[in-house]
Amino acid sequence: MKKYPYVITVSSEKGGVGKTTLATNLAIFLKALDENVPVSIFSFDNHFTIDKMFSIKGQPLRGSVADLLLETPGHQLLHTGQYGVNYIPSSNTLPELRGSIKGPMMLARILAASEIPGILIVDTRPDLDVLTQNALYAADRVFVPIKDMASMDNCRNIFELFDRRGLDRKSLSLVPCLIDERIKFDGLFKDQKTLLKAFAINRGYRCVDTYISKSPKVESLNTNPDGRIYPIFTHGRGTDVFGQFIQLGQIALQEYHQTKEPRALLFDRWQSEEDARKKEAYFGRLTGLKSECLLCNATLEEGAKLAHYCESSDGAVSGFVEADCFARFLMSAVYRIDQNLPADDPTRVMIDEAARESVFIFDPKEDTEKRSVTFHRFSLAGGHLLKREYPLAQQGGEDRFTTLVQGTLGGYNGELREAFLMVHPVNGENPAGILVEDSYREMLKLRKKIAAQI
Ligand SMILES: Nc1ncnc2c1ncn2[C@@H]1O[C@H](COP(=O)(O)OP(=O)(O)OP(=O)(O)O)[C@@H](O)[C@H]1O
Ligand SMILES: [Mg+2]
Repeated sequence: MKKYPYVITVSSEKGGVGKTTLATNLAIFLKALDENVPVSIFSFDNHFTIDKMFSIKGQPLRGSVADLLLETPGHQLLHTGQYGVNYIPSSNTLPELRGSIKGPMMLARILAASEIPGILIVDTRPDLDVLTQNALYAADRVFVPIKDMASMDNCRNIFELFDRRGLDRKSLSLVPCLIDERIKFDGLFKDQKTLLKAFAINRGYRCVDTYISKSPKVESLNTNPDGRIYPIFTHGRGTDVFGQFIQLGQIALQEYHQTKEPRALLFDRWQSEEDARKKEAYFGRLTGLKSECLLCNATLEEGAKLAHYCESSDGAVSGFVEADCFARFLMSAVYRIDQNLPADDPTRVMIDEAARESVFIFDPKEDTEKRSVTFHRFSLAGGHLLKREYPLAQQGGEDRFTTLVQGTLGGYNGELREAFLMVHPVNGENPAGILVEDSYREMLKLRKKIAAQI
């Protein structure tokens, strides 16, 4: 059976609130609390804390978080680490990759296909950049450490992001961190954590049923002659923080066990449905194609040099046109020159080039007195290049424009439909490629842009 990770993201825009301490130590406590649950961790930060904490001396490294984003399967990047926690090595080349990350769903997609088992913890940088947004989008649970009012004010942006993306706020949990137990207040809110929790609840934020105290012992764990970072589990026994991490670990484990369908699985399912829908739409478009050339009505034989895809704006007619057929049409009907110019004639070469790099529109008009067609040429970016009007023959009459327009835009009783015809170049090697979802959508976008101009 395919494996899907349950993703816990630790995030806060505020720096130094204890994100990394929380992420790394939670991983160790989770493993200690239930050794049957595989636990993995990686960070989008470049301070290599995870590597210092989990790497095993002399271990050869196979890839990093950067490779994960470059689509190396996640399970291949997991390294067996200390304390039974798997980790993906950090990378300092992430800033260079940011430009290639399109949108906030990329990590969710990558993790859905990662085959990473159990719980995966993602530590983030102290900002809401595209990587953090991806980590938030992919998460089943987000822990947001807050240590004071400023960090709580900051987490408004995460909540707003969730609202904007239609994500469930319930998966966001604030964790009061670095709480100084020595500070006591008079009145209703007797200490820092009670005060922070009260403010959080007042703002509609959920807090976990525990908190993490500030502890000099914990602070000392990353300063030692070995240059290592020691975990609270092994070096902070006897501190309050030890017990608090047990509590937090139990909360996270319980949620993990209760989550039968983690987001990665839901995302994978959604993606397969989406792929099936796209495939079906593609085959629908393929079967709708006319088997004749829309210009000359000759049957398109196997091996025909197809160069253009035509579709009426009402979607009723679609098909291909051969390169030579369309070039002849342009020469005879549009530019009114000799349509038998040899292929290497400079004028012909220019027309062929224009045909390959333009979109053509045939937009007929019909009233009681006359019928005509407006012919437009647009660049592939939607820039208007040429507009000409040509008369159409009366019903029954024939010329090349009339045959094309009548054949593609004609209605039942010989009248023309309220639509226009668009002729779009295609890659001769794979003409049907234009009907594949993404290319087809691009073409529709261009058609919309053009329709607004004619
Ligand atoms: N419970 C704690 N008690 C005392 N010190 C702590 C505690 N948790 C974290 N610290 C210390 O606070 C500092 C910041 O912690 P940490 O690096 O975990 O924060 P961060 O939010 O990940 O920071 P950044 O935003 O820079 O990534 C560190 O020096 C860490 O040792
Ligand atoms: Mg950090």
